[in-house]
Amino acid sequence: MKKYLIEDAWCIIEDGFHPEFQEVSESIFSLGNGRFGGRGNFEEGYSGKTLPGAYFAGVYYPDVTRVGWWKNGYPEYFAKVLNGVHWIGLEIKIDGEKLDLATTPCTHFRRTLDMQQGLLQRSFEISPASGGTLSFAFERFCSMADPDVACIELRINSTGFTGRLEVTPFLDFDVHNRDANYGDQFWIAAKTSQDETHAMVSSKTKKTNFTVSSFMHTATTLNDHISIPSTGKRESKKVSNHFEAEIQDGSSLRCRKLVVNLNSLYVADADQPSEGKRKLSEVVQKGYDEIKREHIEAWKDIWDTADIQITGDLPAQQGIRFNIFQLWQTYTGKDARLNIGPKGFTGEKYGGSTYWDTEAYCIPFYLSTGDAGVARNLLVYRYLHLPKAIENASKLGFSDGAALYPMVTMNGEECHNEWEITFEEIHRNGAMVYAIYDYIRYTGDTSYLLEGGLEVMISICRFWKQRVNYSRDKNAWVMLGVTGPNEYENNVNNNWYTNYIARWCWQYTIEQIKWAAENHPVEWETIQEKLNYQDGESDDWRERIKGIYLPFDETRSVYLQQDGFLDKELQPVKALPSSDLPLNQKWSWDRILRSCYIKQADVLQGMYFFEDHFEADTVRRHFEFYEPMTVHESSLSPCVHAILASRLGMKDKATEMYHRTARLDLDDYNNDTEDGLHITSMAGTWMSVVRGFAGLRVIRDELHFEPSIPDEWDGLAFTVHFRGRIMKIAITKDECEVVLRSGSAIPVFVRGERRELNIE
Ligand code: BGC
Repeated sequence: MKKYLIEDAWCIIEDGFHPEFQEVSESIFSLGNGRFGGRGNFEEGYSGKTLPGAYFAGVYYPDVTRVGWWKNGYPEYFAKVLNGVHWIGLEIKIDGEKLDLATTPCTHFRRTLDMQQGLLQRSFEISPASGGTLSFAFERFCSMADPDVACIELRINSTGFTGRLEVTPFLDFDVHNRDANYGDQFWIAAKTSQDETHAMVSSKTKKTNFTVSSFMHTATTLNDHISIPSTGKRESKKVSNHFEAEIQDGSSLRCRKLVVNLNSLYVADADQPSEGKRKLSEVVQKGYDEIKREHIEAWKDIWDTADIQITGDLPAQQGIRFNIFQLWQTYTGKDARLNIGPKGFTGEKYGGSTYWDTEAYCIPFYLSTGDAGVARNLLVYRYLHLPKAIENASKLGFSDGAALYPMVTMNGEECHNEWEITFEEIHRNGAMVYAIYDYIRYTGDTSYLLEGGLEVMISICRFWKQRVNYSRDKNAWVMLGVTGPNEYENNVNNNWYTNYIARWCWQYTIEQIKWAAENHPVEWETIQEKLNYQDGESDDWRERIKGIYLPFDETRSVYLQQDGFLDKELQPVKALPSSDLPLNQKWSWDRILRSCYIKQADVLQGMYFFEDHFEADTVRRHFEFYEPMTVHESSLSPCVHAILASRLGMKDKATEMYHRTARLDLDDYNNDTEDGLHITSMAGTWMSVVRGFAGLRVIRDELHFEPSIPDEWDGLAFTVHFRGRIMKIAITKDECEVVLRSGSAIPVFVRGERRELNIE
């Protein structure tokens, strides 16, 4: 745990420089705009511990897989999130000495992430050898209003300093990935160009041929009105503009760098030079202040429906806003080719961009905080990958259109390469169907079923059908050799969660086929033809629905995580010395596998997804059995437990779990924030509040609330989109007010009591 950041409702503040946590801060102070973003690296460079990172959504590199022992079926590459052009660079020299906070002592250091306005600001003072003080103030943002644009401003003020200042804004494509498997550089030789209006650097990825081009326009003024001329410089991978000025006591220097970043997902390779120049001149015309104003307006619009206000608990308030801010700057829902990587634009770890995290955790967040099109684009992303999912399954020996979605992907192909995950953690397929169900029940929009949903669902059902086998011994359908959500168990038989969700996939798909056949026979016929779906196909599913094996212990009356779970030595986590935790850093893998300890919700993940299938008493019994053995070493775990605990009235547990998820990165709970933020689990934080403390549920197409806020909180307020309406919910310890902000009249239920909402 680290507690060096100041608590504030809208800002993340580091007051006084903490070089020992520099990489953690770089993650926390990351910026993005859905299209590109990067870590909170210092513009002027830093020779201490640092992880430089600038990332472009959807731009990846297939690094050659590295494993100890090759297994047939392994993907040949692991898609890496690419560190791209270093566009923030702005070198500073004072009397010829390079400014570098790793070696130059500074005072009054303060860095602030203003989440309301989407601005990263940093200020500090230094005392140059020749006397006096220089104060520095940086501001940076990635425009939310125009996703090609970013801006940086630097102001330097002299108090008693007389001497030479040099500022050199630059763009540099000499970049590497720290996680490169064989130390390769992933970009081919860069191109540069420069004239009085612009400077550009451009490069192409090896193998995948993505082109990224970065353009800058820079202007530096003395005392806000004397424009300083620059000299440009072109190197093989770098372009820079150099400004120099003699300054005196009371003088100030201001440097503004306007950046346009283009990539070939949006602008064809060959068009980038001309389009970049055109765009840059438009941006220059508009000017820094106007670009910033539009950017702040765009954030205002997002916060208007995405914000959560918590009164009476400042750390909780700051935590939730940080989570919401990071999610929206990672994914804005405008492009169905993009997704939400577990680290977003904040680090390299995990590679790929898409895990089941999107379907299981992120979709509910975007459903409520954005319009339906945002979540729908996430569904379409998987539909676009269906052919690859079918190919992926066929590589593993499945046939007849069975689809296995990858555990980790960029373009639909699997790129995970640990056999226990790649081949076995197949429950991810269930989350794809669950997301469709979640989308439909929340938005009421069934059109997606006909426009891709049913194809995905049927292909997944085909996979499940082939993945189970009939056990004569058990007289039931069993699923062997799987890894459930709890990755601290591998190659187990009959993981309850996986068997349960497979059964549900068949059931739900059969119902939706019936709906399509009755209501949209023409479209249904087209789908049937496309998939070569035969009427009798679902009979096999029905047989399996009836006979699938769900391990259950009669004595305790609990479903078992998997066959043989009770043979383990069952002990609560609290029986372990705290020096053994986290297990994944302290224990051998072998010891973890044999233990009863659970990484993240597994049976409880199922009870969370399908809570209306289980009575509260049943959920409580399972919670009391499994939670004490759960170490929550996946960031996805505490939120699910927070939601269930809220439902069960276990307020203290819910609050404990909430704090763990909400401030996971701000307090560096798991000692790994330096690698990047846990972006996807941030959606879980939001769910802990809205589905947990506010108890939001969709029951039979209607919105229900069962609020119960933590004792320390005075109030909770948030806004949700629901079926074309926007409503504002304000909860205190005794009251729950729901107001319709836009859309037609609709009933909602608060603790079971029906209220008619109308615009007043
Ligand atoms: C979790 C997975 C998750 C992945 C990416 C792992 O630690 O066990 O469930 O998909 O992280 O967030």
